[in-house]
Amino acid sequence: MSRSVRDYIRTIPDFPHEGILFRDVTTLFADARGMRICVDQLLDPYAGTRIDRVAGLEARGFILGGAIAHQLGTGFVPIRKKGKLPGPRIEEAYVLEYGEAVMEVHEDAVEPGQRILLVDDLLATGGTAEAGIKLIERLGGEVAGCAFVIDLPELGGRKRLEALGMDVHALTS
Ligand code: PRP
Ligand code: ADE
Repeated sequence: MSRSVRDYIRTIPDFPHEGILFRDVTTLFADARGMRICVDQLLDPYAGTRIDRVAGLEARGFILGGAIAHQLGTGFVPIRKKGKLPGPRIEEAYVLEYGEAVMEVHEDAVEPGQRILLVDDLLATGGTAEAGIKLIERLGGEVAGCAFVIDLPELGGRKRLEALGMDVHALTS
């Protein structure tokens, strides 16, 4: 039987801190078929829907988001950790499973009324994705969907994003 997306992901205990089971997607990205089925399956639910740009959350959302934007024929918007974007930008602070951070987006990266597909490798508490959603919406964009490779449901991210009215799509838990 052929391997599913889940079969390409490895779990590394106690990274970056003791007690964290880190889902490592580099093994998925390194495999040509893994990458292909992952991108195809992330896009499946959005066939026939209008998507104007794809936004990726730093860092692994950049890898997926770039591939997805290429497949859709759209542009790509990086949502970055504070201090990396050079132009005029807005920011949102958020709390992580292990720490705190601030995300930023360029003010001109999303045009009012654009439908944006938000992409990342993993949904845990949903703090990172919620920061991304707020940034897109503050620029007048509409989040067309939130697509993740992995959902860790016990951390509550899906419920948190669904409570914001988001459509959440994940390939595995
Ligand atoms: C990971 C992951 C998501 C986020 C999910 O990134 O890639 O972006 O955590 O966690 P949350 O749902 O609890 O917000 P990380 O913060 O490790 O940053 P990195 O991709 O830059 O390593
Ligand atoms: N980001 C937050 N929690 C994570 C986990 N368990 N594995 C990989 N990335 C994460």
